[in-house]
Amino acid sequence: MPDSGAPSPVHQAELRPSGRRFAAPANLPLLQAAAAAGIAMESSCRNGTCRTCLRPLLAGRVHYRIPWPGLLPEEKQSGAWVLPCVAFPLTDVVLGDQ
Ligand code: FES
Repeated sequence: MPDSGAPSPVHQAELRPSGRRFAAPANLPLLQAAAAAGIAMESSCRNGTCRTCLRPLLAGRVHYRIPWPGLLPEEKQSGAWVLPCVAFPLTDVVLGDQ
């Protein structure tokens, strides 16, 4: 998505059950947004292939800028799982703690 120069919306992200929260700018992968807030999430490749960061998406919607992140077709279709290293929030989101 090209950068329009307009400010990017900032959504809210929450981890459950821990209740930890962080600001999740629409133009930043969730993993990076969490790190910016001092919340370390398990990761490895950070490019959407290894699935180390895979966790449940309990609420909200995300999108991917890469054509086929390392989700199984049924995982992608269901919207119930997310790869935070390459997932950009479209709304406020709730993710499962690992
Ligand atoms: S860290 Fe490898 S898929 Fe997210």
